[in-house]
Amino acid sequence: MITRVSSAAAIGARGEGLGRAGKGLCPLCVGSDISAEVTQAGTGQGDLPQAGAGRVLDGKAIAVTVRAEAAKRVAALRQAGIVPGLAVVLVGDDPASQVYVRNKTRACDEVGLVHFDHRLPATTTQSELEALVDRLNADPRVHGILVQLPLPAGLDSAALLARIDPRKDVDGLLPENIGRLWSGAPRFVPCTPLGVMRLLGEAGTPLSGAHAVVIGRSALVGKPVAALLIAQNATVTLCHSHTRDLPSLVRSADIVIAAVGKPGLVVGDWIKPGATVIDVGINRLPDGRLVGDVDFEGARQRAAAITPVPGGVGPLTIAMLLHNTLAAATGT
Ligand code: GUN
Repeated sequence: MITRVSSAAAIGARGEGLGRAGKGLCPLCVGSDISAEVTQAGTGQGDLPQAGAGRVLDGKAIAVTVRAEAAKRVAALRQAGIVPGLAVVLVGDDPASQVYVRNKTRACDEVGLVHFDHRLPATTTQSELEALVDRLNADPRVHGILVQLPLPAGLDSAALLARIDPRKDVDGLLPENIGRLWSGAPRFVPCTPLGVMRLLGEAGTPLSGAHAVVIGRSALVGKPVAALLIAQNATVTLCHSHTRDLPSLVRSADIVIAAVGKPGLVVGDWIKPGATVIDVGINRLPDGRLVGDVDFEGARQRAAAITPVPGGVGPLTIAMLLHNTLAAATGT
């Protein structure tokens, strides 16, 4: 099932849409600031578009592999007496968030990860939420804490997230974990960027010395993707709504990562022949179709490899949440 998220940009797992519009301000989303209606495809259901000139990277198939690996690790941990647990906090009744959370908890069930669900009304106060986070921090059964964003209006997501024990921050959104990522000693890396890197790996795209153009500077996607690419010796240009001459920057890119939530922003003739194109955007058009930020048909004629929407990045985000939760459970 695909659910519409009315929000300003910000993509994440699946292309998870965190928004600034309407609901509680989400400072983490600020930066992927080309306004558009962003939608989410959950685990990326839907048929893959037909392959053209470039190889179409099948995120769904890769996610199946990642989940299978996770299931094996969970089984081994259980044998060793460790039952990995994820606390999932959902406040309010935002339909898109409900879908995201359902997909996340389903994935946990599938691999044998225990989840502790906290579904709270939109009237929940900041201090009640902070008390809950304190309890989850202290609960040894809980290895990871995920507070689904955005929070309802009036709640301070940054203050709440800051309260999470950084060793349980499986979203990788706390300043300590962001700092660790940028300083080259990552602990938890946000899930969508991890998925992007996995896709680049599967594509066999050389990273060292490559010019990567990242479009969108959100805390959830653009900035951490840039950090990960730099760590692999790519030369990164991080673009945003104030960037001058985006087309010429994209034309020089060996790798294009689009994460702004603007349908068809990147057109085919911007793509350098042989480039790898990773489309993190998920946007619903008025006719009901789901599309990314890249004109898929045009771009695949020139790209060596490209992700579809849906079925590209989306399925990997949830798979990477499992990966991070297992890392939290094992302290690795
Ligand atoms: N809402 C949309 N995407 C995300 C995400 O990656 N993490 C959290 N916590 N909430 C989200």
